[in-house]
Amino acid sequence: MTLPKLALISTDPAQAQADAVIIGTMPDGDGVRLAPGGEAVDTAFGGGLVEVLNTLGATGKTDEVVKVPTLGRLPAGLVVAAGLDQPGQAGTVSAEQVRRASGAAARSLAGTARAVTVLSTVDLQAAVEGTALGAYTFDGYKSGSRDTPLARVDLASPDTGTAREHRTTLKAAIAIAEAVATARDLINTPPNDLYPASFAERARALGTAAGLEVEVLDEKALRRAGYGGVLGVGGGSVRQPRVVRMRYRGPKARRKVALIGKGITFDTGGISIKPASHMEEMSSDMSGAAAIVATAVLAAKLKYPLEVVATVPMAENMPSGTAYRPGDVLTMYGGKTVEVLNTDAEGRLILADAIVRAGEDEPDYLVETSTLTGAQIVSLGRRTAGIMGSDELRDRVAAIAKATGEGGWPMPLPEELRADLDSKLADIANITGHRWGSMLAAGLFLREFVPQGLPWVHIDVAGPAFNSGSPWGYTGKGGTGVPVRTLAALLADIAENG
Ligand code: BES
Ligand code: MN
Ligand code: ZN
Repeated sequence: MTLPKLALISTDPAQAQADAVIIGTMPDGDGVRLAPGGEAVDTAFGGGLVEVLNTLGATGKTDEVVKVPTLGRLPAGLVVAAGLDQPGQAGTVSAEQVRRASGAAARSLAGTARAVTVLSTVDLQAAVEGTALGAYTFDGYKSGSRDTPLARVDLASPDTGTAREHRTTLKAAIAIAEAVATARDLINTPPNDLYPASFAERARALGTAAGLEVEVLDEKALRRAGYGGVLGVGGGSVRQPRVVRMRYRGPKARRKVALIGKGITFDTGGISIKPASHMEEMSSDMSGAAAIVATAVLAAKLKYPLEVVATVPMAENMPSGTAYRPGDVLTMYGGKTVEVLNTDAEGRLILADAIVRAGEDEPDYLVETSTLTGAQIVSLGRRTAGIMGSDELRDRVAAIAKATGEGGWPMPLPEELRADLDSKLADIANITGHRWGSMLAAGLFLREFVPQGLPWVHIDVAGPAFNSGSPWGYTGKGGTGVPVRTLAALLADIAENG
């Protein structure tokens, strides 16, 4: 991971020693107007900056970046004008607007050493997150010369609040951006280097460094304890499965939260093999696990007054002579039996084991996230997570996902689909045998393993976790780190409100 160094400044941003000054623009008539914070830069242009931008055809819309050479009017050689788009009804610009504009500006500055931004005067936390995540690069696998990453960004201090408050906000925002970047790094690491054992060791190293208790169950420990789902799915690979348990005990913890994430380090589909086209993207099938590991570490860094216990099942889903087959019946952790009708519906099998194990800790909330179904992408697109679970927690998480800008929508668990999971042979089958509502059927399958009455939520991030399209806002190609910010905001909310 490379993230820029971020520091607050209280001097005039227009006079800062930097290569570029980042300002915000908003649509105004046929052209733009400047967002707050841009005044000093405009003064250096003799009040003509809007005219320059309009001449260049600027619109102020989302993801627009217009660069203007300063020709010696400022110490910086470039003004980078990033579109915030129209403010909301109350006339205010949202955090997500600042995050996206900051991200687009940072992306456009790859190869530039040093920038200064005034978007931080609109929303400091959002500017930090957007700038850091937009500047994120992952190029450790290139042997040739690499682009210089944006190395340093100075942030103009907001007019309101104290310097001390600004420092606290900066620190927290950097920690959140680092957690997202950690998840992205894990997702972007290719599957020949990130497999269950190596993923578990990376989780151990990250957790231990942050002061968490970490336990790694290897295949022998999994067999002894009867993790039939994880062992069944992982049995086709020479790279044996793992379950990682990470525990953070916060100060004055009054609530215990169980976190669970799907860690399929590569999903070929197994014997029910997937088509070749785009199969390489299934190296991101551990995005849920990456988000959970990063969030558990973040909880310790931000010292949330909570107990957080992460249970992270990791396996590689491969076809081979030792692979599980359609027709097999697996005995899951805790004793329930599952008839496997499709080995490509593997995520729910490793998650079932993890959910039962997590339930034994008697948490107050159970939060699970996974790249679980292609149907999530069919129903909600590539940027909106499907959120299922018990009514209250589901709606709470959906509201938080929306507020963080990561995006998510509450989805139902229709009772009539549960009957379609009935098995003649075992307690339940892993698929319904038809394609209708299969995101919801997967949620219903998971529900079978959640202890009665425990508030729980299932966040299907099959689309949002990985960007195979063009970069946008603060999201580059590859792993996005979704839903780390939603999980962090949920933990903060539980710490505050129970
Ligand atoms: N990992 C996939 C889901 C997925 C698909 C994630 C596309 C990201 C992008 C999952 O294991 C899977 O294969 N699901 C099947 C389930 C089906 C066999 C019931 C699916 O969605 O097609
Ligand atoms: Mn699959
Ligand atoms: Zn999968």
